[in-house]
Amino acid sequence: MGLRPLAERYADRLPLSRGAAIVSLGEGSTPLLSAPRIGARLGTELFLKWEGANPTGSFKDRGMTVAVTQALADGARAVVCASTGNTAASAAAYAARAGLDAVILQPEGAVARGKLAQARAVGAKVETRSSFEEALAEAQELEARGTHVLVNSLNPLRLQGQKTAAFEIVEELGAPPEVLALPYGGGGNLCAYALGFGEEGAGMPRLVAGEAANRPGTVASAIRISEPAHAEAAQRAVEESGGSVVPVDDAAILEAWELLAREEGLFCEPSSAAGLAALLADPPGDARVVCVITGHGLKDPDAVA
Ligand code: F0G
Repeated sequence: MGLRPLAERYADRLPLSRGAAIVSLGEGSTPLLSAPRIGARLGTELFLKWEGANPTGSFKDRGMTVAVTQALADGARAVVCASTGNTAASAAAYAARAGLDAVILQPEGAVARGKLAQARAVGAKVETRSSFEEALAEAQELEARGTHVLVNSLNPLRLQGQKTAAFEIVEELGAPPEVLALPYGGGGNLCAYALGFGEEGAGMPRLVAGEAANRPGTVASAIRISEPAHAEAAQRAVEESGGSVVPVDDAAILEAWELLAREEGLFCEPSSAAGLAALLADPPGDARVVCVITGHGLKDPDAVA
């Protein structure tokens, strides 16, 4: 039987229509791993929230189960998203599970091989646009026409689903950590954690967000986003928490990525290490820290070469 689907486990804290048939692939309930070796380097008590353990290999599944469940309940026929690959892989899989069509608009040259394979394998229609911003604008147009439900994080149900990661962390540690570090692409996930810890009501960790110093050209393709859709809300959440946005260059991202693999045995994709890169650049001192590792390394095998 395994663990309960996230939308069932947190049903009373999610705005889903009563009686909606839950579209689940077994997401959520991911491991919170203690990371003593990297923790010792940082001088902190470090835990890694391993979101690569979700069914399609990234945290996007938390939001997608909620967004696609509601889309199905509302009588949708198709979903659309713009994506650097992980949202695409997740949207495609949950759409297939729900019997909906999925249209994926991806930026040219920015999608890792494993992610494209995931979307194609489950039957999504994949098209390429010149940038993430252009892809997102077109996805929003399709939604405005009423033919497709947008499942980017501009769909508030995505953040509702993703906030559950904060619930799990508080459940497991018994309290919020003092610091939460994570990658910052569009900023949706950052806002989702702020929402989740806010709803828990036991205090907000300092939010430390690692963003690519070279947003349009970073090697970390998942966060190759020039204009973060949630920039304002993300900035506000970081400031209110007493945290910081830390620009990290490609060398720092790859160094953190390699540390996770070699010192803790955790193989993630490069973007997923941006939160750790931010911690290494500016160590938080003697604190209890959770670092979110957002996606699986198998998605981007070419990065290893
Ligand atoms: N980590 C991974 C592995 C991602 O795929 C993303 C975003 C992020 C971090 C950043 O999260 O955008 O909420 O700040 N991926 C999006 C996608 C853009 O299309 O899959 P964010």
